[in-house]
Amino acid sequence: MTEAIETPATTWEYAPAPESTDIVRLEDRYGLFIGGEFVEPKSGRYFTTIAPATEEPLAEVAEADADDVAIAVDAAREASEPWRAIPGSERAKFVFRIARQLQERAREFAVLESMNGGKPIKESRDVDLPLAAAHFFYYAGWADKLEYAFPGRTPRPLGVAGQIIPWNFPMLMAAWKLAPALATGNTVVLKPAETTPLTALLLAEVIREAELPPGVVNIVTGAGATGAALVDADVDKIAFTGSTEVGKAIRRATAGSGKRLTLELGGKAANIVFEDAPLDQAVEGVVNGIFFNQGHVCCAGSRLLVQEPVFDVLLAKLKDRLQTLRVGDPLDKNTDIGAINSRAQLEKISELVDSGVAEGAEIYQPECALPERGFWFRPTLFTGVSQSHRIAREEIFGPVLSILTFRTPEEAVEKANNTPYGLSAGIWSEKGSRILWMADRLRAGVVWANTFNRFDPTSPFGGYKESGFGREGGLHGLEPYLELDGGAR
Ligand code: NAI
Ligand code: MG
Repeated sequence: MTEAIETPATTWEYAPAPESTDIVRLEDRYGLFIGGEFVEPKSGRYFTTIAPATEEPLAEVAEADADDVAIAVDAAREASEPWRAIPGSERAKFVFRIARQLQERAREFAVLESMNGGKPIKESRDVDLPLAAAHFFYYAGWADKLEYAFPGRTPRPLGVAGQIIPWNFPMLMAAWKLAPALATGNTVVLKPAETTPLTALLLAEVIREAELPPGVVNIVTGAGATGAALVDADVDKIAFTGSTEVGKAIRRATAGSGKRLTLELGGKAANIVFEDAPLDQAVEGVVNGIFFNQGHVCCAGSRLLVQEPVFDVLLAKLKDRLQTLRVGDPLDKNTDIGAINSRAQLEKISELVDSGVAEGAEIYQPECALPERGFWFRPTLFTGVSQSHRIAREEIFGPVLSILTFRTPEEAVEKANNTPYGLSAGIWSEKGSRILWMADRLRAGVVWANTFNRFDPTSPFGGYKESGFGREGGLHGLEPYLELDGGAR
């Protein structure tokens, strides 16, 4: 062979690395999961669920009306007495079974999660599914130890819990809701979000295989009206994750009803970088904080606060890093940013980004080709942002970062807390004493230090102010599902 050796190109491209969808078997049409069976909705109505990356229809899904919801709640009510009578050690076995099944079928779940929700497969594979399984494992371990969790008290299940979850982490949110409810002896009616019902319906299959008694878990699909019907139904508790707007409506609807309520709502987290921070590490944390899951994250680090001396260098590093983010096919293993979950969410993001430009902030977006069909948004930075701009105050829930600066730690605290939300915050600094000083003063349920978006089933998660109330995860996450007699409250 005498061919000349080609000069290596200075840039190179990734070859496509799509995950196969063969492992997923979809039905044409899904009923409601009530009393351990898939049943036709009395409403007679179905809606189409799509892949946001292609806008292709995936399946028809039942739309439950108030009668359907009432039937599901009746099934949960009927299952309640026998389920709470089962010893905790036996109840644990069912929950452990769900956890193991999720691990065994993790790939199938992850692929379906990315198909229906648009999130990158590397996230559904490495984050959503492992954490969902971990959550079931963790709470299974509590089922026979509730007396030890609350010494001197008599923990008893509430009865029937209505659980309404969003579309950003469909499986993980289902796990956060179901695992503690089941471990504490409650029965459940779960309503997945209208854009991402498919993994919850696959979970129904797992629940059946785990041989949970019929009616212990019921799954009703539909949109806001179905959720509202569940709030109004004869349930003992509502657990909701979603928008602050709907959270407020649910609080009004449940006031005076005696129904217990936990709300996990929006956020506008500050990610605070001090001049002594390890900057390359901070850049990774900032990128993960806002671009993970397309920024569809309630605890996303959507407000970056940078100490003035390092602003220029941090911004340059961030812009460089954004050039390397790969936007596109969620099923490609190299994709960093997948599809926006729905057209409605894309419109919301676009509208807020336009307001940022109109209000005078400076926008930066890397050059990158976007697929023709589907819902996409380029990773976006805003500089020159002031506290009064909508992009500094409102939750965008997309891949959009607003950057502000500060001079002193006091100013950082003030700016960070200047929001109606209080779900999470991040601090980047080499100084332990400064991290602790800041963490004491930040009004946020979770404060990460030199990392961001870390989750663990053992640690409680939840908000202050308009980010909601009640905690999920950890020992704290048991309490909202229990009546606790005796002892001091
Ligand atoms: P949403 O709050 O309307 O939807 C979340 C869940 O609540 C879904 O299952 C939905 O069907 C249900 N729902 C809607 N209206 C209801 C009602 N009146 N009563 C009972 N349930 C109801 O959120 P949406 O409209 O999808 O997103 C709007 C914004 O909310 C996003 O842009 C984002 O800012 C925020 N959001 C925050 C989430 C979080 O994790 N904290 C999750 C989803 C959205
Ligand atoms: Mg809504």
